[in-house]
Amino acid sequence: NRVPRGRDAGRGGAVERVGVVGCGLMGAGIAEVAARSGSEVVVVEGDDAAAGRGRTRLEQSLTRAESRGKIESASEVLGRIRVVTDLEALADREVVVEAIVEDEAAKTALFQRLDEIVSDPEAILASNTSSIPIMKLGVVTSRPQQVMGIHFFNPVPVLSLVELVPSLMTAEATTERARTWVQETLGKQAIDCQDRAGFVVNALLVPFILSAIRMMESGFASAEDIDRGLVLGAAHPQGPLALADLIGLDTTKAVAESLYEEFKEPLYAAPPLLARMVDAGLLGRKTGRGFYTYD
Ligand code: NAI
Repeated sequence: NRVPRGRDAGRGGAVERVGVVGCGLMGAGIAEVAARSGSEVVVVEGDDAAAGRGRTRLEQSLTRAESRGKIESASEVLGRIRVVTDLEALADREVVVEAIVEDEAAKTALFQRLDEIVSDPEAILASNTSSIPIMKLGVVTSRPQQVMGIHFFNPVPVLSLVELVPSLMTAEATTERARTWVQETLGKQAIDCQDRAGFVVNALLVPFILSAIRMMESGFASAEDIDRGLVLGAAHPQGPLALADLIGLDTTKAVAESLYEEFKEPLYAAPPLLARMVDAGLLGRKTGRGFYTYD
């Protein structure tokens, strides 16, 4: 939500050349906030079709921001973002934030490639993962001291929180450089978390969402009434089921499974209804239907 600050913004060793991998819901948002802060951003997608969808996503979000007066010019910000399909384009980046699918094998393969490609030994190799241990990504590289979690929240241009997640091997200097980038350049607020599934916010939020799904599944109350209850009775900006639709039910289920695997507590176990909805492709807003339907 900041206006572009111009060319001098990066003086004093601040991060200027940003890379993002994945231009989906989160990757596009991260690319947008970085470009809005004045940085030059390279985003890598898996193939041309996905890159095209990523560009459209960025254009729509920035046009909306312009029409709401949040930025002066969508085209100026878009001019700082390149969406490509070649990972080698990340070679000169000072920070790379990975925001691909929440899949451990896909992410470890990517971190091995980033380790080969990114030439600056000081570069921060970050993951936006919600649930995969940062250590698993660090150890597949030759530089686990440069690998950490930088966990943004959806929608990235709107929500100001970022969780900083160093692994046991992350250098303090890496975390501090990330903090400076996130707070001073991007204008976000950082909190520090341990490398444990769910970090702070999801470890509290996901069991809450799962409880709401169980409540609906058992016929205790309707989706609408559960959500209205929390909005009107606890002043939540939206109810837990609407929030699950926003996060994506596949992502919600994946995070629940990671939490369950880590802590083995029943409160983290994904209820059958959530699993069936994901099997059916009812993933929430992004597919037009989840607990609610969307245009
Ligand atoms: P998404 O499905 O919207 O986007 C993922 C993108 O990555 C897709 O566009 C896909 O084409 C691309 N991709 C997949 N494999 C790739 C590869 N090897 N190289 C380049 N691009 C590739 O997913 P979303 O929701 O943006 O999630 C991304 C990450 O952010 C996940 O790790 C998720 O856990 C995390 N996250 C998600 C949040 C949410 O609310 N959805 C919140 C915070 C973190």
